[in-house]
Amino acid sequence: MAERKKYEVLGVSDFARRWGISLKEMPKGCVALIARGDFHYRRLDKNERDAAILKILKQFDTYDNVKKSIADGDGKKRWMREWKSVFEAFVAGGYDTERLVPPYFRPQIVRLDGDFAMPASPHFSIDAYTVLRRWIIETYFKKAHAIYEFGCGTGFNVAEIAKLCPGVEVHGLDWTPYSARIIQSFSPQFGNRAHGHVFNMLNTDPKFCLSSGAVVLTVGAMEQLNTRFEPFLLYLIRQKPALVVHIEPIVEIADTNTLFDFLAVSFGARRRYLTGFLPRLRALEKNGKIRIVKIQNTRIGSLYHDSYSLIAWKPL
Ligand SMILES: C[S@@+](CC[C@H](N)C(=O)[O-])C[C@H]1O[C@@H](n2cnc3c(N)ncnc32)[C@H](O)[C@@H]1O
Repeated sequence: MAERKKYEVLGVSDFARRWGISLKEMPKGCVALIARGDFHYRRLDKNERDAAILKILKQFDTYDNVKKSIADGDGKKRWMREWKSVFEAFVAGGYDTERLVPPYFRPQIVRLDGDFAMPASPHFSIDAYTVLRRWIIETYFKKAHAIYEFGCGTGFNVAEIAKLCPGVEVHGLDWTPYSARIIQSFSPQFGNRAHGHVFNMLNTDPKFCLSSGAVVLTVGAMEQLNTRFEPFLLYLIRQKPALVVHIEPIVEIADTNTLFDFLAVSFGARRRYLTGFLPRLRALEKNGKIRIVKIQNTRIGSLYHDSYSLIAWKPL
């Protein structure tokens, strides 16, 4: 038992492997973040693993009783409540952007390389996500003329991008007005380069135009659309950004012959998260409408699913 509880640690080469890059391609900023974070974890023993699986299965019952998807049901009201309270705490706390880390980065068991793992640090999830985000910023955003995050939530990605990409306009869009209010209120800290907008991905506004050379980002936002991503996808193709980068759960790259991935895919189906998006992108690529630049299962996720799979593509 003592042996099973031994801690292992994620190093730079583990992150590089996850993103399908060589050690040489790892940006220095990521190396520094990896050195600063605590990436120790241990595998679960049999009882802990059973308890984790039972927790997931019990959660299924909750979702089976919900008739509508987030996109169809009261998803918007829920996000309004969440981001209103973040906005109020942000103002009361003196506009400190460090306070914008969303509440779903809680200490918990994570999915790591095809099995569950117990992190040593309560900050493991947010620290691992921060390294991934930094890699995306360094790799895909540095030449962008403007960056747009759709479904931007608390705006914490927008603030980080504005910090790391000086001189670039960063836009955050969400269907709740509180996201835009948060962004507008921290914008002076970044020379007024951050802009918040209300935008509904289910009912896209063709009059909202992206500037030329724009890069688009979504993080856990397409996830919410279930099968209703087509209007937003067509909007993006028409707007012709230089690149679109998604960090989303992509069920089609899971291996459902394993219990571990089957659980994640079943969770996504019950939660009515994104489905059919990757096959649709592949069909568009076959028809010469887009080019897929990267598909990567980063093999890191929350207890329930691989939330951080990466797809990058560009309209042709
Ligand atoms: C899980 S949160 C992710 C937020 C942020 N991208 C992040 O990384 O923390 C999902 C976000 O998508 C937004 N969202 C959901 N459906 C949307 C829609 N139809 N149009 C615009 N935003 C939407 C929610 O309001 C919420 O802010």
